[in-house]
Amino acid sequence: MNKLIILSLLLAVAGLAYAAEKDAVHSIAIPVVRTELKAGEGMDTTGKYCSICHSLDYITMQPEFPKATWTVEVNKMIKVMGAPIPEKDAQTIIDYLAAQYGTGNKP
Ligand code: HEC
Repeated sequence: MNKLIILSLLLAVAGLAYAAEKDAVHSIAIPVVRTELKAGEGMDTTGKYCSICHSLDYITMQPEFPKATWTVEVNKMIKVMGAPIPEKDAQTIIDYLAAQYGTGNKP
């Protein structure tokens, strides 16, 4: 019998604790982690457009692609993923990526 009373008390306390926890307002601070792009002509344009949907890590973690591969990649972001990048800026981005994260103008 005693055991039953103790168990009921425990459950009541747990219930109160749960209710208090449920109504409490919590907040968390999400750290801002910015990926730095390498300095170079076109860095700002690339940073502006290529971070709309995902982190710039997607660029910095790639192996050194030839320019043709970066061209395909940027076009894929525009045509398949729907990136709103004007043609003029796309060329700037491709040149930047090939120079800073690729094999330059080598094939
Ligand atoms: C409209 C949204 C959007 C924009 C803007 C965008 N991307 Fe992406 N990107 C995606 C999606 C969606 C994926 C696939 C994500 C996944 O598979 O997790 C992706 C994946 C990638 C990948 C990984 C390889 C691959 O093909 O899946 C690379 C590299 C990449 N993006 C580069 C870029 C670059 C460079 C730019 C700027 C020119 C850019 N992205 C802009 C949507 C976008």
